[in-house]
Amino acid sequence: MAKVGIVGAGPAGLLLAHLLHREGIEAVVLEARSREYLETSPHRIRAGVLEWGSKEILRRAGLGQRMLEQGLEHRGVYLAFDGALHRLDFPSLTGKSIWVYGQQFVVQDMIRLHLAQGGEIRFEHEVLGLEEDAGGLWVVYRTPEGATERMRCDFVVGADGSHSRLRGQIPGARLHQKNYPFAWLGILAEAPPAAEELIYASHPRGFALFSMRSPTRSRNYLQVGVEERLEDWPEERIWAELSERLGGVAEVRPGPLLEKSLTPLRSLVLEPMQHGRLFLMGDAAHVVPPTGAKGMNLALCDAVLLYRALLAYYRQGEEGHLLRYTQEALRHVWQAELFSYFMTTLLHTPVDAFDDGLRTAQLRHLAESPHLQRFLAENYVGLHTSGRYPGWVGEGVLA
Ligand code: PHB
Repeated sequence: MAKVGIVGAGPAGLLLAHLLHREGIEAVVLEARSREYLETSPHRIRAGVLEWGSKEILRRAGLGQRMLEQGLEHRGVYLAFDGALHRLDFPSLTGKSIWVYGQQFVVQDMIRLHLAQGGEIRFEHEVLGLEEDAGGLWVVYRTPEGATERMRCDFVVGADGSHSRLRGQIPGARLHQKNYPFAWLGILAEAPPAAEELIYASHPRGFALFSMRSPTRSRNYLQVGVEERLEDWPEERIWAELSERLGGVAEVRPGPLLEKSLTPLRSLVLEPMQHGRLFLMGDAAHVVPPTGAKGMNLALCDAVLLYRALLAYYRQGEEGHLLRYTQEALRHVWQAELFSYFMTTLLHTPVDAFDDGLRTAQLRHLAESPHLQRFLAENYVGLHTSGRYPGWVGEGVLA
C-alpha cells in the first residue's frame, strides 16, 4: 500500500513525490514510459522558462543545483514588431527575473535526486484505471511484464499530462476549452541564439520566437497553420522564414537541426480538478498555449498546493486544504490562462483583418505604455502565479 499514488513522472508528479518523500510520507510514482524516453526523447515541444517563483520552488525543494549552475538567468525579453526591438526589463518592472532551463533537464534532475534519496518511481507501468471498493481506492496498472496489478492508496494524483487518462475519472467535471487556428513549428539547433535574451517577433507573415537552451543551442518557433505538415518545412525554408520574420532587428544564425516538431495551440481548464480522493495536477487538469511559457510553472504550483494540503492532512488531520485544492489552484490557473491567451492573440497574425487591427493597436500601445509593460512583465515572471500576490505560493510551506 502507498499513501499517495502518483500517476506520471513529469515535473508536477516528481516534485510532489519528492516533497512528500522528504517528509516521510510514502509516495509511489507510476510512469507509463521508460526512464530513458523521459530523459532523452525530444518527443514534444517543452518550454524552458522558469518563473522566479518556480526557480525558488526547485531551489528550496533541493532540486535546483544544476539549474542554478547551468541555467541562464534572464532579466528581460524582447518584443520585435514594426521593424524595431522593444526590451522589457524585468528587474525594473517587477524586481524579479526568470531562468531559462529546459523542462527535460528539470525532469532529469528530479528523477536522479528522487531515486538517489530512496524515492520510488516505477517506469513502464501503465495505469489502466481506478477501482474503489470497501477496501479503499486502488490504482490498476500493467507491469512491464504485462501483468495487471493494483495498488491501494489513500490518495491518487493524476499528473499524466495533456492526454490524461485520469481526467475522465471526475464525474460531472466541466471542460473549458479553446482551440486556436495556429500551430507552432519548433526547432532545436546547434547554433547560437539570435540574441542573449528571448525575442518574441510579430510579423505580417506570422509570429516567430527566438529562444535558447544554452549559449550555443537555439530553440526557435514559427507560427504555422494547423493543417501544415513537417515534410512541408525543409531546413532551408525554416531558416529563411525565421530570418524574414525577425525583420532585420537581429541576425538568425543557422546551424544543424537536432529536432523538429509541430504542436497545435490550445487552452483547456477542467473544473473541478478533484473528486473524492483523486486530484489532478499540471497538464492533466489544464493546458495553456506555449506563448506565455507557463505550462511547467503551473504544474509546479499545483504540486506545491497539493503538497501543502496533503501535509496538513497527514500532520494535523486537517482536510480543509484538500477540499479547497481546486479553488486554490484555479486562481493561478486562470491567471496563466489569461496571460497565455493575451500573449497568443497579441503576437500571432490572425486571419481576420479586424482582429489584426486590434492586435496592432495593442502592440503599439504596449511599446509606449509602462503600465502595459508592467502587466506583461508581472505575468511573465509569475508574480500572479508562483510569486502570487499577496505572497509566494510556497509561503510557509517550503522553507
Ligand atoms: C522555449 O524556450 O522553448 C520557449 C520559451 C518561451 C516560450 C515558449 C517556449 O514562450
